[in-house]
Formats: sequence, C-alpha cells, structure tokens
Amino acid sequence: MENETLTKVIPRKILLNPGPATTSQEVKLSQVVTDICPREQEFGDLLDDIRQGCVDVVNGKNNYEAILLGGSGTGAMEACLTSCTKESEEIVIIDNGAYGKRMTQICEAFKIPFSTVKFTWGDSIDLGKVREHLKNRNAKALAFIHHETTVGILNPVKELKSLADEFKMITILDAMSSYAGIELDVEDTPVDFIISSSNKCIQGMAGIGIVIAKTSELKKIASYKVKSYYFNLYNNFLNQKEKKQFLFTPPVQTVYALKAAIDEFRSEGITGRSKRYSDLYEQMHDGMLKLGFKALIEKSKHSKILTAFVEPTDSQYHFDKMHDFLYERGITIYPGKGAKEKTFRVSNIGTLNSKDIGFFLSTVEEYIKINKLQLQQC
Ligand SMILES: Cc1ncc(COP(=O)(O)O)c(C=O)c1O
Repeated sequence: MENETLTKVIPRKILLNPGPATTSQEVKLSQVVTDICPREQEFGDLLDDIRQGCVDVVNGKNNYEAILLGGSGTGAMEACLTSCTKESEEIVIIDNGAYGKRMTQICEAFKIPFSTVKFTWGDSIDLGKVREHLKNRNAKALAFIHHETTVGILNPVKELKSLADEFKMITILDAMSSYAGIELDVEDTPVDFIISSSNKCIQGMAGIGIVIAKTSELKKIASYKVKSYYFNLYNNFLNQKEKKQFLFTPPVQTVYALKAAIDEFRSEGITGRSKRYSDLYEQMHDGMLKLGFKALIEKSKHSKILTAFVEPTDSQYHFDKMHDFLYERGITIYPGKGAKEKTFRVSNIGTLNSKDIGFFLSTVEEYIKINKLQLQQC
C-alpha cells in the first residue's frame, strides 16, 4: 500500500507524550504477519537477531546479553530489582523523580532490603550526598535513572558508575526513556544492568521490557534465590540463549515490530537519532519559550528528550482544555507528575520531524490566541 493511502487508513498522530512514541508506517505494518508459533526455529532466529540488535544499541559487543520480557518497562525494572541481589543484600536507590520512587516501591513490594538517597524532583543529583550515603553500608547495588522522565533531567551515569566502583557495588540503570535516544556506550561506561522497553526511543510498539546485562554479572545471579517467577531474569535469559525461545508466550506481533524498529535504528544510528531528537528539542523548547512558557530544567541539565514546562498561572489556562484542543488536531501532550513546580510535559521522541514540531507550536499559539492567555507572568 502506498504511504499516502495508508495514512488515510491509519492517520498519523503526533505523540508528544514520553512513549509509546509515534512509529513509522513500516513498524506498524511489520506486525501484520502470518500466524506463527513462537517456538518455531524461524521465530528463534528473529529473537536472536533482536537480542543482538538490542546489545548493539549500547555497543555491548560480546560482553553483554539482552533479555526480552513480555510486559511494560516496569516489568523489566521488576526483573532486575528482584533478580540482581541475594536475599540479604541492600540496593541503594537514587530518587530524584517518580521512576526512582517506583524502584523503591518495587523493593517494598518484594521485601528487598533497600535505602534511598532522595532529591527534590527537578533537582540534580548531588554526588557528595550519594557518596556520604554509601559510606560504611556495604550495599550491593546502586540503582538509578538515566533520564528522569518526571522532569526531563539527565542524571550523571558515568559519575554514578564511578562511585559504585569505588564502593564495589553493581549498577542497575533504568535507561527506559534514554536507550536508543541518548548515547550510552558500555565500553566507556560499563554499567551492569540496563533497563528499557520497546516503545520509547527505540520506536517500536508497546509490550516488551528489555534488559541488557553484563554477561559476567548475569552468570553470578544464576544461583540467587528467586523472588519473582515470571520476571526471573536468569531463567528468561537461559531460555532465550539456549533454546532461542521466550520463556513464556511473547507478544508475537510486537516482537516483529521491534525487529523493524531495530532495523530503522540501525539505519539512523545513535548519532543520527540523538541529533534528530536534540534538534527537535531545541526547536520545541525555544519555540515554547518565545510563546511565553518557562521550562523547569535548564538546558545544561536537560535530556533533550522531554521538557517539563511550568504551568501558567493565567486563570484562562487549564491543562485538560489545552490537551483536548491539541488532541483534536492530532497532537498528544502529557500532564506533569509531582515535580517541584506544577508542570505539563512535552516529549520529542519517535518518528517526528521539524514539520511536526512546527505544527505543534503553531497549534499552541492558536490556543493561546483563542483563549487570550497572558503568559508573560509564568
Ligand atoms: C524512566 C522510566 N522508568 C520506568 C518507566 C515505566 O515504564 P512503563 O510505563 O513502560 O512500565 C517509565 C515510563 O515512562 C520511565 O520513563
């Protein structure tokens, strides 16, 4: 089917929420496949190719393994947090947003020993405070977020990895909303467990959690007491490595979409994709500032993946009304999530281009004019 005809059948939407992101027609169409039993060799070869593709995204070469899990990204977080430590070992979690907090909630649910280093949501991580916390605790793992999607701040992965090394701890990195969008090279920063999902910067469909693990650390967890059945990371890995099969029934069509998304990633490359995202961010961020909005996070600390804008104080402004106005025109924005100031969020991931961001900005401008918003006050 020609692209234009296809767009009539499946209208293209501009998703500015932080995933699931806008996908290409190729990724959408790749899901329409002949019925197949996922235990067949053909599907096993597909799984192998995808797992290698996932490792290549972070330049893991032969030292890392990818494990795919049916479920959302939180499932992959759960798999790591429940699998990577022995029963009595402590995980130190850095919380500077909702996803750091989610790690603590998972540990609470599974009664995993943990402690937290807390920062206000919107503030940078103070490495000195983390170091003080790590002193004399003998904790096993340091868990933290790469891009804290709550506010759009980029956390210092390299520095935190060095701190973990200093205290002989393993690292669990939630790279959910940065993986394949912001360069992370494990040759340079060899974090032990990396968490992501199929529907954010990798630009596939929702439904698969991704873990990329350093092989030497992965082998160590084989003997650990199992805390989760479905999300037992080692068992899932073993089945995928040795039998070339998912341990449990996978979301078959989403797997095909992930293969198409990885092929697209291979053509664009990390340099191309991160530059495209960064250019879109500059255009969107600067355009919104010109319209009178204020960004919560300054550029130097920004992920360039998602921007939290401070909610205007004008009485004519209502997030839901602005959301609906944009939504009716094919654009989706996202509410804020507990940051230090009230915000709404606009992401710039997926198969977006500068025309999309231009359309978003002109639609916001139209909304401002129609509602006579006075934004200079914010
Ligand atoms: C940093 C981060 N971690 C975890 C999650 C949870 O992923 P999911 O909603 O796929 O479970 C998200 C979702 O946006 C995220 O941004």
